[in-house]
Amino acid sequence: MNGKTIIKEIKSKNSASNSYVFVQTLAAIGTTLLTVLLIYLYGTHKITPEKMLFIGAGVVLLQAAKAIVGAVGIWRAHRAAYGALTDIRLSIIQHLKKLPLGFFQRRRPGELSDIIHHDVEQIELYLAHTQPEIVGTMLIALLITGAMFIIDWRLALCMLAPVPLAAGLLILLFTKIWTKRLKQYNQSTKEMSEDLMEYVAVIPTIKAFSTEEHKTEALITRVKDYTKNSAQQMLGISAPNGVVQMIMEAGVLLVAFVGMELIVHQDFGITRFILALMLSLAFAQAVLKFMGYEHALILLNRCAANIASITGESPAPDYPTKPLVSSDITFDHVTFSYDEREQALHDVNVVFKRGTVNAIVGASGSGKSTIANLILGFWLPGAGRVSIGDRDVSTINERDLTGLISIVQQESFLFNTSIAENIGIGRAGAGREEIIEAAKKACIHDLIESLPNGYDTVIGEGGVKLSGGEKQRIAIARVLLKNTPVIILDEATAAIDPYNEHLIQQAITNLSRGKTLIVIAHHLSSITGANQIVVMDKGKVIAVGKHDDLRENCPLYAEMVQMQNEVDSWNIK
Ligand SMILES: Nc1ncnc2c1ncn2[C@@H]1O[C@H](COP(=O)(O)OP(=O)(O)OP(=O)(O)O)[C@@H](O)[C@H]1O
Ligand SMILES: [Mg+2]
Repeated sequence: MNGKTIIKEIKSKNSASNSYVFVQTLAAIGTTLLTVLLIYLYGTHKITPEKMLFIGAGVVLLQAAKAIVGAVGIWRAHRAAYGALTDIRLSIIQHLKKLPLGFFQRRRPGELSDIIHHDVEQIELYLAHTQPEIVGTMLIALLITGAMFIIDWRLALCMLAPVPLAAGLLILLFTKIWTKRLKQYNQSTKEMSEDLMEYVAVIPTIKAFSTEEHKTEALITRVKDYTKNSAQQMLGISAPNGVVQMIMEAGVLLVAFVGMELIVHQDFGITRFILALMLSLAFAQAVLKFMGYEHALILLNRCAANIASITGESPAPDYPTKPLVSSDITFDHVTFSYDEREQALHDVNVVFKRGTVNAIVGASGSGKSTIANLILGFWLPGAGRVSIGDRDVSTINERDLTGLISIVQQESFLFNTSIAENIGIGRAGAGREEIIEAAKKACIHDLIESLPNGYDTVIGEGGVKLSGGEKQRIAIARVLLKNTPVIILDEATAAIDPYNEHLIQQAITNLSRGKTLIVIAHHLSSITGANQIVVMDKGKVIAVGKHDDLRENCPLYAEMVQMQNEVDSWNIK
């Protein structure tokens, strides 16, 4: 969806409430006409008590109709606007889910949430307030022009005379200024949201390194920039407004001057003169209002373009689903980089055989998690091929792939809900019994039972109330419940105490029965029995074999084992 399509859709949502505004405006104009009639009758001494009563009753009726219809119109406009807001937000969220991970690499969460929250909100403002008003103002301006031509065509022309100048300035100058200012304002809003979000997220780190002052200062500068840009934006609106006001009031003066000339030199009644003056003042106000709408429209275009910068991104291709059976997973000359600067994987050739236990080991940053990302199709190789059996992962439907493979990620994310629900995510519709069974196998049941509300205990955002090892066991329970033929376990890097490690070890053993298991191991003691150990170094696979074999033939592996032993012996001391 591009910006234009979004705006078209937004505008179409409000046609019903616009018709209410139409009626409301007619009522307002009817009232003005009756007032004009009253002045005319007074001026020409034709007023009678009956006529006054008739006009009075007419004004009351029209005002009542205006109030009722206006209220309904505003209610309908808000309903349409909030409906549109929800639709747009939902479609952005649905679309985000389909986008490749590379997109999230380029865009920061603060910016995206600002678009979903702030820019979409602006659309409500336009739909519920600005658009209905535009309809009303346009009608008023048109009717005033008609009435002025009836009163006197020369005065009508005087009233209209400043319009080309005001419109020309608006189109040629003000629109450009506003567009530029709005872009700056938009940029500073985006930067402030991003920085605020990051600041809140990294407060523990900032505190730990006692650098609050520096970061806080930087944030304050950002907020001040935002304030400056907002003020400039407002000035950018008010200054042109003043100019147009002057131009339009010059039109009123022209009407007054020519009107007086007509009174003096021609047969032009004072009543018509007063009416013409009143109408030209109302006309100047209507034109000024239009300026405001023009600005609102620029804002709407900007917001729609921001939304389109998400919805216009092509989603990852959606291949038709086709039964996928567990087979060997093959990396064939795979090269990959996240950001074109550095290669995360370089010419990787490896096979994870069906039904075997595999381990990937290597220093931090050597490319272990990247292997998992490629198997799951989160990213596609730059060169070479990752396949399951004879099927290229890049052409497998996402649902088929995640139905075959599950992963326990390095940083297990837990939702801010009950433990039972967190485990239940593994399989929709899983019963409490099954959840408990999975928790038992993941060696986390006893801990859950010891919590105040057991399985109904709500865990904080990101599962902060649990330790890293406990979170990972909950994630293992999830995967046990999902029960897929292929399981990838990206071990937590955080040091895990021996007791937790033992429990995780037990959970992994339960996990692996009859399945293809790929463990990205940081604790070498847990993988000595693996059918195959893949040793990685700087994005390359440097050796593949069993534990004893590698200890003898791969110096890097031998060194890693040696270091692990030393760490373990420190633990014992
Ligand atoms: N999302 C990303 N964007 C850019 N570069 C990344 C991204 N994820 C990883 N990298 C880079 O790719 C390389 C391999 O990272 P990877 O996460 O696979 O390492 P790892 O072996 O899993 O490390 P660790 O043991 O610390 O988890 C590293 O140089 C890392 O900086
Ligand atoms: Mg990793």
